[in-house]
Amino acid sequence: MADHPVIAAVKLALKTVQVPGGSSLADYPGMSDIILTPSALAFAISVEPGMEGAFGPVQAAATEAANAHAEGRKVLVSITADRAPANAKAGAAPQQKSQVQTSPVKGIKQIIAVASGKGGVGKSTCSVNLALALKSTGLKVGVLDADLYGPSIPKLLGIEGKPAFRDEKMFQPFEAHGLEAMSIGPMLEPDQAVVWRGPMASSALRQLLRETDWGNLDVLIIDLPPGTGDIQISLCQQVELTGVVIVSTPQDLALIDAKKAMDMFMRLKIPIFGLIENMSYFIAPDTGKRYDIFGHGGAKATAEQMNIPFLGEVPLHMSIREQSDAGTPVCASDPDGKEAQAFMEIAKKVA
Ligand SMILES: Nc1ncnc2c1ncn2[C@@H]1O[C@H](COP(=O)(O)OP(=O)(O)O)[C@@H](O)[C@H]1O
Ligand SMILES: [Mg+2]
Repeated sequence: MADHPVIAAVKLALKTVQVPGGSSLADYPGMSDIILTPSALAFAISVEPGMEGAFGPVQAAATEAANAHAEGRKVLVSITADRAPANAKAGAAPQQKSQVQTSPVKGIKQIIAVASGKGGVGKSTCSVNLALALKSTGLKVGVLDADLYGPSIPKLLGIEGKPAFRDEKMFQPFEAHGLEAMSIGPMLEPDQAVVWRGPMASSALRQLLRETDWGNLDVLIIDLPPGTGDIQISLCQQVELTGVVIVSTPQDLALIDAKKAMDMFMRLKIPIFGLIENMSYFIAPDTGKRYDIFGHGGAKATAEQMNIPFLGEVPLHMSIREQSDAGTPVCASDPDGKEAQAFMEIAKKVA
């Protein structure tokens, strides 16, 4: 398949960037694929350990060259020394971890992101219920609301008030249903439209993640905004994700976008734990009868097609919506109920 015109233009521009040793960056074997999303353009340059400093000017020149052709997208060029540049491209094993420079977050053992292609598919609902389900297995769990454009974790967990600070610099996370939670929502004015330009969003995300005193967590669940934008890429570059869970509804359109999201995480070498089909089928509240209103099963077929695990189905159910809106997700209000069980099963697979 021919390159997207923007990628082709950037590749051409990278021919003018010299790497130590003489060749051009475009021909350098440690160049990763160029990842293009509607709002971001990213790639990584892998160098021999110890060569990071020498590649500083290359990173700057590559960023400048890419910026000239990125058509307003945020450009993220990372240098990484975690694999040998020789044959890096040809030998890139699929199980290789993120190829960008990441650093751990203090006190957090594992980080799991919850992503989707489209909005409104139930990503946030799945995030909090998955967090609660994992917590019920005895783990210490936190939730970070990375949907800076539409933070919904405060509502889902019934969080109110501004966050407190610990020793002036660090946020103290909110406590809700036994989870530690952090969101930018309570810091915004009600109904304020949030306009984040790419770099601002990345730094807000960094602050929420790193300037929160999480204590000791076994798992942090990160609720992402929909799509494949700069928050997703920036997160992948900031921390080493243990894996990502993708949420989709059974409809074709949602699945097409879910595939794009999965494709992006695969290219960023983030392990995909699997796909959840949310709003999989409808259970009538009065009769308990099941209806496959969206043509249930599409996500399972997509997961098989993409060779990733299928994590399970969550029914479309009034109680899931009502409990979420009330700030008491089903896994907290009725942990033994049928709806919560769907999340418990998924949590077991993720764990
Ligand atoms: N399985 C479900 N059954 C019923 N309502 C659901 C279900 N999953 C999500 N919802 C509702 O759909 C809406 C969108 O869900 P949300 O989790 O905010 O999606 P996203 O984070 O993907 O935008 C919310 O009102 C939520 O309560
Ligand atoms: Mg959401």
